[in-house]
Amino acid sequence: MKLRHIATAISLIVACTGQAMAQAAQGNLFQALGNEPGISKIVDEMLVVVMQDERIKASFKETNMPRLAQLLKEQFCVISGGPCKYTGDDMKVVHENLGINAAQFYALAEDLQIAMDKLAVASSTQNKLMAKLSPMKKDIVFPKPKPQ
Ligand code: HEM
Repeated sequence: MKLRHIATAISLIVACTGQAMAQAAQGNLFQALGNEPGISKIVDEMLVVVMQDERIKASFKETNMPRLAQLLKEQFCVISGGPCKYTGDDMKVVHENLGINAAQFYALAEDLQIAMDKLAVASSTQNKLMAKLSPMKKDIVFPKPKPQ
């Protein structure tokens, strides 16, 4: 075997191992959240906190909350590496005309943390979930839509 082939083989093994490790870490997050039953509790608790939060509760006054809960459960399952399918709409399409500001985004993130604290989710697990959610900010926070 030529040296070049050995080098290619080694880099392939390293790449595959890296991918497997990344997948394992993701799978661990789904498990650390308590699989689907754990995620279900987290989302339900988060929505209880959100609906008592003066900073953001008005945003949801026309929302079908059972449907939102279901979609959030699917989405948290997928992003934590679980075996689910997200059946909702694209984050940008859903949020871009809602006029959500950064303070409201952080308020919802805080409510999720309050919910996870109540359910005694380990802080390392909380941080991993927050790290998956924070890049979504660019698809959720937009300036107020112009009046038609
Ligand atoms: C990381 C943060 C967030 C995530 C992961 C998230 C996720 C979602 C999901 C999965 C849906 C359902 C999509 C669909 O209808 O197909 C949704 C809808 C919605 N979100 Fe968010 N969201 C976030 C932040 C926020 C914030 C900060 C607000 C307002 C304060 C907000 C307000 C809404 C409202 C009002 C709807 C329902 C829209 C409708 O009824 O058509 N979201 N969100």
